Amino acid sequence: MCGIVAAVTTGTDVRAVVLQGLKTLEYRGYDSAGMAVCTEQGLDVRRKMGKIANLEEELDKNQLPESATAIAHTRWATHGAPADRNAHPHVDDQQQVVVVHNGIIENYLDLRAELAELGHEFHTDTDTEVLANLIAHYRKSSADLHQAVRSALHKVEGAYGLVVMAADDPNTLIVARLDSPLVVGIGEHGRYAASDMPALLHLTRDFLVLDNRETAVLTPHSHALYDVHGQVLERDLMHCDWTPEQAERGGYPHFMLKEIHEQPDVLARTAFDRFHDLAGDVDFEPEFGLDDRTLQSFERLRFMAMGTSFHAAQLGQKMIGELASLPGETLNASEFLYSPRLPEGQALTVVVSQSGETADTLRAMREVQKRGGRVLGICNVQGSTLAREADHLILTHCGPEVGVASTKAFFGQVTALYLLAIRFGRARGVLNAEQGRQFLQDLRALRHKLEYCFREETLATIQQAAQYLSGVRSCLFLGRSFQHPVALEGALKLKEISYIHAEGYPAGEMKHGPIALIDADFPVIAIATPGTTYEKMLSNIQEVRARDGKVVAVAAMGDDKVAAAADYVLSVPAVPELLAPLVTVVPLQLLSYEVALALGKDIDQPRNLAKSVTVE
Ligand code: AGP
Repeated sequence: MCGIVAAVTTGTDVRAVVLQGLKTLEYRGYDSAGMAVCTEQGLDVRRKMGKIANLEEELDKNQLPESATAIAHTRWATHGAPADRNAHPHVDDQQQVVVVHNGIIENYLDLRAELAELGHEFHTDTDTEVLANLIAHYRKSSADLHQAVRSALHKVEGAYGLVVMAADDPNTLIVARLDSPLVVGIGEHGRYAASDMPALLHLTRDFLVLDNRETAVLTPHSHALYDVHGQVLERDLMHCDWTPEQAERGGYPHFMLKEIHEQPDVLARTAFDRFHDLAGDVDFEPEFGLDDRTLQSFERLRFMAMGTSFHAAQLGQKMIGELASLPGETLNASEFLYSPRLPEGQALTVVVSQSGETADTLRAMREVQKRGGRVLGICNVQGSTLAREADHLILTHCGPEVGVASTKAFFGQVTALYLLAIRFGRARGVLNAEQGRQFLQDLRALRHKLEYCFREETLATIQQAAQYLSGVRSCLFLGRSFQHPVALEGALKLKEISYIHAEGYPAGEMKHGPIALIDADFPVIAIATPGTTYEKMLSNIQEVRARDGKVVAVAAMGDDKVAAAADYVLSVPAVPELLAPLVTVVPLQLLSYEVALALGKDIDQPRNLAKSVTVE
């Protein structure tokens, strides 16, 4: 997913603030970057392969002129290999129009052929260059740039978050959006556009969120929003409560480590304003919009998500089954599209997504709504597509998650799902007020207990285990019941930032195949915390040891049985089984972090990954 930052201002030189915004977006996509300005002399562009630091070096050597207007972009390649020539911004062959684009123009080859017929020349392998030439083509016969952009977009199939600037109009930016997020920032000294709010927090906290097929015309003093028919739209501004510091690294070596350590605070941000202690219940905000009667009417739940959010969704299904006796299923959102069209009946679909922009998840949500189903979104980004299109909403309030490997967002999602389980349990009479109060108290007490996960001695053991794991080629994560999704999540964390192959499995499956893998070079990470699965997990650990397998165990502090059976023990505080995932996931996050660090991997920007996968 690419990063876009643009500004049209009353100042004289906007280059530095645009570059500063671009740096906050580097986690989204980072194989090349570029910036364009527009001055009386026309358009001027600098583009460079690699990280933004390479672009900065280029800009130092080969300055762009001062300008009050600029557009910039970090790229995660979809069409055309990472290379200087394929980096955005892209200009048309007559240097009249320059664009930055996030998304895919699916019919770009047809459009490129049509434009070539008309004499346009192409110099890159990208779909975006076709868009620049298409707009320039319409610019010749259109009253203004906005009209030219709209005419061009009527010809386009695909997805775009787009900012357009013309050589003959340095005080205007046109922005457009279809399935790739784009926000407009309203500032005192200008108007801004970005693919994500954190990129503009140093300039403004007031935003206008574009919806699909909407466009906007930005000038230094004004902004106007238009619908697909070119009619003016009125829309309230959204005030973002994130601070620029929250989007910064805060002294940590990596965003991922900062976000792991933020998790005790995330517990408070996600949950503590929603406790209704007296009633032993949960108060969600008005956008939740599900009263007791409606909650009682549901006969089953369907959870849908991708990646880490899928693992959180699995825990949500288990917790609501436990506290509200409500059956459910959890589906990988990309698979839902191939599921039979069964009647929605009295089902509620819970869609979980940190970014609220994951294409697979959004498409599944829209399919449910098309089939007449209701969707509750659980999301971390205010104003995201999921947040705006879901019928009901719970925001997790984790603050911006920048590290590509999701950590605090998972924590916030599981916390929100635990609250939802209490809400469902109380609404359906499965939990009485006293039981509700106890479950809320267990959650409140967790914040202090989490501090144990970050003690020096705990971290030292994690580093020892990481040192060992950094030398293996593959490993197995095992957990049961509530710890099965944690095993999946631990495996995903390890593979996505250390590139070591790791598989998560329900521990009961081990003897049905995976045990064939176990030998002295194939370790197992086993989650053996107190509760209904403890004895069986201990047996699994002994089965692994009997085959010379090494074991890294996650266990309650002071557990001598596990300590006697495992090679490394990552200790966690003893907490109620239902909440144990919120403590066992922490050492696994830290373990993957330490392994990746030991291997010198790019922790915040792992290869081939993007923070939000806005293409299917
Ligand atoms: C998790 O560490 C990954 N970055 C990825 O699996 C992510 O969870 C997935 O792409 C879903 O993203 P979302 O929560 O923003 O929808």
